[in-house]
Amino acid sequence: MSQKILVIEDDLTLNRLIVGQLNRLGYETTGTGSWAGAEAHLSAHEPHLIIADVRLADGDILERLPDLARSQPVVVLTAYGSVRDAVGAIKAGAYEYLVKPTSPDALSLVVKRALDDAALRNDHRFCQQRLKARDSMANFMVGVSALLLKTKETIAAVGPTDVNVLIQGESGSGKELVARAVHECSGRARRNFVPVDCCSLQEKLFESELFGHERGAFTGADRLKRGLIEGAEDGTLFLDEIGEIEASIQAKLLRVLETGVFRRVGGTKNLEANARIVAATNRDLEAMSLDGRFRSDLFYRLSTFVIEVPPLRARRDDIPYLAAHFIQHHNFSRRINKRLSGEALRRLTAYDWPGNVRELRNVIERAIILSQDSSSIRPEHLAFGSSGGKSGVKVTVSFDHDPTLDELQAEYLRLQLHKQSGRRAKVAEVLDVSERNIYRMIRRYGLVDACGSGSRSAPG
Ligand SMILES: Nc1ncnc2c1ncn2[C@@H]1O[C@H](COP(=O)(O)OP(=O)(O)OP(=O)(O)O)[C@@H](O)[C@H]1O
Ligand SMILES: [Mg+2]
Repeated sequence: MSQKILVIEDDLTLNRLIVGQLNRLGYETTGTGSWAGAEAHLSAHEPHLIIADVRLADGDILERLPDLARSQPVVVLTAYGSVRDAVGAIKAGAYEYLVKPTSPDALSLVVKRALDDAALRNDHRFCQQRLKARDSMANFMVGVSALLLKTKETIAAVGPTDVNVLIQGESGSGKELVARAVHECSGRARRNFVPVDCCSLQEKLFESELFGHERGAFTGADRLKRGLIEGAEDGTLFLDEIGEIEASIQAKLLRVLETGVFRRVGGTKNLEANARIVAATNRDLEAMSLDGRFRSDLFYRLSTFVIEVPPLRARRDDIPYLAAHFIQHHNFSRRINKRLSGEALRRLTAYDWPGNVRELRNVIERAIILSQDSSSIRPEHLAFGSSGGKSGVKVTVSFDHDPTLDELQAEYLRLQLHKQSGRRAKVAEVLDVSERNIYRMIRRYGLVDACGSGSRSAPG
């Protein structure tokens, strides 16, 4: 790719001369004679270098230099003998000045040096950004376990590439956090991270939310609306709960991923999709794609790279750090000073955390409240297992047809078995039926596989 240079000079003979010389050297050079022309050019192009006369009929470059020089180096052209202008230009941020009329050698030398320096600085800035992203990731992903560190390394490695990432993990394990970290570690970090909750939107709405709609596309579409995918241009589109999207949307999404273009609802023009796709699910998407509940071609497109977020019980070393992190947060925001007692910490690290980090966060929050004026959080303040009634429970089961009651029951049971990590006693408690009944249903619906490691042999 050749480097682009903008020449701003109202002496048109000199302007043409410089443009001609630079083009012969292989640069892609554009000339303009006014500040207005320069502004129009800059709003549509991003030159790598600007060469500008100090004074133009419609403005003075010195005032604008500090601003201009932030985006690319500026070489200023000064009249012979006007030392004041030269000094002023350098002070205002110019890379270098050239005295008119410029010799071809001096011009080519300065231009090359300015472009090389800028490239170096950009590299340096890029490295610093990456380092900063890693630092901030370290700050917002709390934990020290080997599994978490490995996840962070994976994020740092895949973040800067542009490949699609699929994040899998149990509910509350930190999938959204990982998605944000992937974005922060990428060259897209300065653009938008746009989360889309795939299970909260219905088919028709989903399409116009995602792709936008043209004015008049349907009743109520009284103006053009850009979709989330446009909002994520050059940024990251985070498709949360991707396992829940309907077949028709799966097809449309696949088309975008395959062709790189999309259309607004009611539109006929193809628009380019520049968003990087990061998706998350707590379902086994591969299994779903094998038995036809999720398009396998879409699964392959989404899962170019897969990050598995380990459940909290598989990385117990993180528990003390996470607990301290959440307590510190409350201490700070409520101006209190609570500590965790040794015994309470032992309970926290021994517990299985089916709701993962989110459950730990909730347990700590409740403990802060339950411990009232006491400065230490003790075991009796820890209320495990209940949802705390703070966030409503949302149950999602999907079918490709209207399910029968039996099918619905079977699916819900499967979901609970998964959620409770196969612990039938716990499932029985949640569903408010006897444990023996749970065993019967498991056998009847053929759900033995869904019972996982928590299964034991059935009682008599
Ligand atoms: N390593 C971590 N350090 C600090 N906070 C964390 C960490 N992991 C998760 N959390 C916090 O736990 C909560 C749940 O995390 P998150 O929403 O990312 O999980 P999730 O896997 O997307 O959950 P769900 O499947 O329910 O959508 C959030 O408040 C998040 O900030
Ligand atoms: Mg989530």
